[in-house]
Amino acid sequence: MQALSDQKILDSWKKNASPWAKAIEEKQIESRRLVTDQAIVDAVCSITAKKVIDLGCGEGWLVRALTSQGFSVTGIDAVQGLVDRAKAHGQGSFKVLEYENICSGTLHEKYDVAVCNFSLLGKESVEHVFSIIPKILNDNGCFIIQTLHPHACCGDLPYLDGWREGSWQGFSEAFVDPAPWYFRTLESWFDLFSGSGLTLDRVAEPVNKKTGKPASLLMIGRLAS
Ligand SMILES: C[S@@+](CC[C@H](N)C(=O)[O-])C[C@H]1O[C@@H](n2cnc3c(N)ncnc32)[C@H](O)[C@@H]1O
Repeated sequence: MQALSDQKILDSWKKNASPWAKAIEEKQIESRRLVTDQAIVDAVCSITAKKVIDLGCGEGWLVRALTSQGFSVTGIDAVQGLVDRAKAHGQGSFKVLEYENICSGTLHEKYDVAVCNFSLLGKESVEHVFSIIPKILNDNGCFIIQTLHPHACCGDLPYLDGWREGSWQGFSEAFVDPAPWYFRTLESWFDLFSGSGLTLDRVAEPVNKKTGKPASLLMIGRLAS
């Protein structure tokens, strides 16, 4: 398996399902507590919608948060251990499914909103998600992404698309073998939306008041009816 590949991302997340679920359930990540959890919930709630799909739902916190706001929510994730954990909480419906296998045969319904919260990490897998989004959204449906802000996470490397090595810095010692991720510039994210026929309705940069830096990049694309 190549070290910098979509396959390696899944391999790594499978190994880290348990510490990840613990970190989320114990709200260990400060930027999520202070900024990004509320930002993504507010973004979905700003849309008039009923049916939502959370792609890369992890242990399901967002599915639970949106279900309690009255949405009908399905979560999918490639990692069985995370989906099992999500199901055990008992809200929403869940399915083990890799992005690469999303098609009309694996998802039988259409949704008003598809949401990805820090879950678009790879190259080809993300391109596939964008290609399939118009087929799984209802007319006027929205695709909402919250991801690392490219200006905040570029570091000293050139501001160019490309694979980056992962790190569990700041996480507990229970985490192993960090997943690589594919860096995208702002322009590349916007191109993915337009390439799928989605119009960007809103771009937001939620700021962490403690650091004065953007905690994330949030984009809402809409499928023309
Ligand atoms: C950083 S976690 C975010 C989880 C969740 N969205 C949250 O907000 O806590 C990234 C998630 O994306 C999932 N993921 C990454 N690549 C995937 C793929 N190709 N297919 C399905 N799930 C994937 C991982 O299994 C993991 O649960």
